[in-house]
Amino acid sequence: MVNQEIKEKIMGIIEKYQREKEKLVMILLEVQKLTDRNYIDMEWAKLIAEELKIPYTKVYDVITFYSMFSIKPRGKYVIEICKSAPCHVNKSKDVVKEFEEILNIKMGETTPDNLFTLQYTSCIGACDVAPAIKIGEKVYGNLNKEKIQQIVMDYRNNSI
Ligand code: FES
Repeated sequence: MVNQEIKEKIMGIIEKYQREKEKLVMILLEVQKLTDRNYIDMEWAKLIAEELKIPYTKVYDVITFYSMFSIKPRGKYVIEICKSAPCHVNKSKDVVKEFEEILNIKMGETTPDNLFTLQYTSCIGACDVAPAIKIGEKVYGNLNKEKIQQIVMDYRNNSI
């Protein structure tokens, strides 16, 4: 059962995209931003499928195919660490280790305050500044320990 307030917001987004099935990814991106938890509840996905008159499995496939979507609640800030080859050879493993240490969580986990989630992504087009990460729309490259500490501090202080 979808909470009434969320339902109205989802319906608003669907209407904004004129119920076009082809806009499914755009609709999902907006729905995912409806809460601070950066995810799409399966009940919401069912509602979207019904309203767009497409099979629920199709919506589910899209959500699970792209790493930018999640069916599980995540942190407000999802730190996507690139694991493709150019970042890998530039020590993206050290970046993972550093974030894990600072946030005191493992890859794939969310901090207890629901502020950060760590996850892998494939190339984000910033190979020239590898190792790189993405948080929301922002890309950060040439990462080292100091930069990583600064990034976490800035997000914690909400100064981004
Ligand atoms: S390989 Fe990491 S940004 Fe391209």
